[in-house]
Amino acid sequence: MSFEVPDPYVWDESFRVMYDNIDSAHKAIFECIFNCAKDPSNAGLLTKLYQVTDDHFKDEEGMMVKANYSDVTNHKQIHVDFLAKIKGLKAPLDDASLAWAKQWLVGHIKGIDFKYKGKL
Ligand code: FEO
Repeated sequence: MSFEVPDPYVWDESFRVMYDNIDSAHKAIFECIFNCAKDPSNAGLLTKLYQVTDDHFKDEEGMMVKANYSDVTNHKQIHVDFLAKIKGLKAPLDDASLAWAKQWLVGHIKGIDFKYKGKL
């Protein structure tokens, strides 16, 4: 499934999962990707994207585990795969990598995260 990528790349209400801590973290990841796109040669921004995303995934996974959410194993693996790809990127980021990261986050929130709405 493919979802529309916002332009400019900023979180909006259509991404709300109804858990404030998660919505805040998703906003922060949007911002990290936005900043990477603005300054693709800045390696520090790429590191920050990794850290902010890793922190969010740990938090979200903890909530899923605590709630005995049924799809947690599959969801965790999707997180692992994304972080591995981000880790493999090097500044300067090319347009294709940036487009992929933008599309991935949008698709992950709306296609995967949305499935836990009301269940955590
Ligand atoms: Fe919000 Fe599954 O990442």
